Amino acid sequence: MLSCKRDTYCGLVNETMAGKDVHLSGWVQRTRDLGGVVFVWLRDREGLVQLVFDEAVCSRETFELGRALRGEYVVTTVGEVRLRAPEAVNKELPTGTVEVFVRECELLNRSETPPIYIDDKVDENELVRLKYRYLDLRRPSMQRNLRMRSKLLNAVRSHMGSQGFSEIETPILTKSTPEGARDFLVPSRLHPGTFYALPQSPQIYKQLLMLAGFDRYYQVARCFRDEDSRADRQPEFTQVDVEMSFIDEKDIQAVIEGVFQRMFRDVMGIELSLPLPRMTYQYAMENYGSDKPDTRYEMKLVDVSDLAKGSGFPVFETAVAEGGRVRGINAKGAADMTRKQIDALVDYVKTYRAKGLAYVAFQEDGAARSSFNKFLTEEFTAALRERMAAAPGDILFFVADRDAVVLQSLGALRQEIARRRGIIPEGKYNLFWVTEFPLFEFSEEDGRYVAMHHPFTSWMPEDEQYLDTDMGRVRARAYDLVLNGIEMGSGSIRIHRSDMQARMFKMIGLSDEEAKHRFGFLLDAFKYGTPPHGGFAFGVDRLTMILTGSDSLRDVIAFPKAQGANCLMMDTPADVKPDQLELLKIKLDL
Ligand code: AMO
Repeated sequence: MLSCKRDTYCGLVNETMAGKDVHLSGWVQRTRDLGGVVFVWLRDREGLVQLVFDEAVCSRETFELGRALRGEYVVTTVGEVRLRAPEAVNKELPTGTVEVFVRECELLNRSETPPIYIDDKVDENELVRLKYRYLDLRRPSMQRNLRMRSKLLNAVRSHMGSQGFSEIETPILTKSTPEGARDFLVPSRLHPGTFYALPQSPQIYKQLLMLAGFDRYYQVARCFRDEDSRADRQPEFTQVDVEMSFIDEKDIQAVIEGVFQRMFRDVMGIELSLPLPRMTYQYAMENYGSDKPDTRYEMKLVDVSDLAKGSGFPVFETAVAEGGRVRGINAKGAADMTRKQIDALVDYVKTYRAKGLAYVAFQEDGAARSSFNKFLTEEFTAALRERMAAAPGDILFFVADRDAVVLQSLGALRQEIARRRGIIPEGKYNLFWVTEFPLFEFSEEDGRYVAMHHPFTSWMPEDEQYLDTDMGRVRARAYDLVLNGIEMGSGSIRIHRSDMQARMFKMIGLSDEEAKHRFGFLLDAFKYGTPPHGGFAFGVDRLTMILTGSDSLRDVIAFPKAQGANCLMMDTPADVKPDQLELLKIKLDL
């Protein structure tokens, strides 16, 4: 009887082992029975290798076992590594120059026919993949993704440790935190009628740790937010959370840059050059129509409001007269778009509340085709052409509206066109800081200003003068890190005085009573010598998604939630027994 303990991995068998015995254990990928000889691909976490069952080498019994193997059977085997003849080399297999001639083999377990192919080349339905996640995770791409994630966390821990940071865990059963999403609640049995909230982030705890004197804290923290799922959003996700005392923005940014440099080096073999580039929020918005711009391609927004003013085109003129703006983008070489394609883009910007989308396409012969031909005088055309650096073959798109709508819709259009035209370069990592965020943003839903980052963020001292007169103008000491058009993380210098914190709560419309109820312990704590402090948090799932080239967070989380925040494998959320509810004093009203 063979032991199940391997001495090497299937995917690591190579030519230097020729003539030697190896002991392998793994899963059967597929079998090919050629009569006198049976070929079996054996798989483990490192990859595949071909086993050869040949009666000239193994016993009749072992040969028959080889013939009986099926997909996903678990076996352990000992055999000799041999070089393949040149004509038998399989170039698609990293181990394709060798094969293992089986001498002994033991069947450790059988498998039913799996509901999905364990093969990256087969595009399986994601719902089925999620239901049988443990099988899906056997796929090489999932193995690679999760191992890369682990490597990334190793890099974080080793770097942060070397920089004098302590990893401190904070509670999961806690009270509502201020990140602005909906909380997941957990009912209390011992205190019926009351609830814990799962943390949306460790924000308050880490600030309290600064008060407690742990001046360099970090944590690989699980966070929970009850918000609608998107490709880059999960209800349960992981942050690397950092906080420091007696520092300013530059110190925190330097630490974060250091850890990113280390992660890129260890995981990707890429050397980031530091310091990372920076752009202000205002620059990002005006040039890319986004506070997390994808700078891997150009197509910047251009303000043509001054040209639009005297153009005679009513749509443009009215927008400017009403205090709005006209901005455009130049889709280079895209003048060959069909009417139907353009109409689809018009519909697209409407989902961003733009009333319409004007265009001018410059044909190769120099003639212009436009949605506002009637108003396109020679002079106006020439002015647009010059401002937007348009050449024959280019198409210009314009939105005229309130500036917020113009920026948002054109920013989204810029991305949509880049995606559709396939101009986003692969293998490029544009990582940079966006700084000087506004402290407040106007919430249409609430009809008032809310904190753009969170209400513990301090304002820039030079903007304090506008706090009472022009809230929209106050800049925060907040910064985001952006990678390829995705917000990787964000942070800020915090308010550390209780009078400033109380003022902040008031400004966002939190009554004294409410502030006391929700954050009273923090306001109290602030009275006991709070040091100046600040921090940052970045999303581990999002970073892994980009570094592995995945399209969804679900591909980098072992057991993710599906679109409806449910787990198809465990069938959660699930109902509970009536006596459990009774203990909690909860009556359902469905
Ligand atoms: P913020 O809310 O910006 O900041 O979150 C920081 C980072 O966490 C990641 N992230 C998510 N990842 C996956 N799914 C989600 N639903 C999700 N939500 C956020 C993003 C994001 O940039 N306490 C502050 C940080 C601080 O001020 O120190 C905070 O949580 O990558």
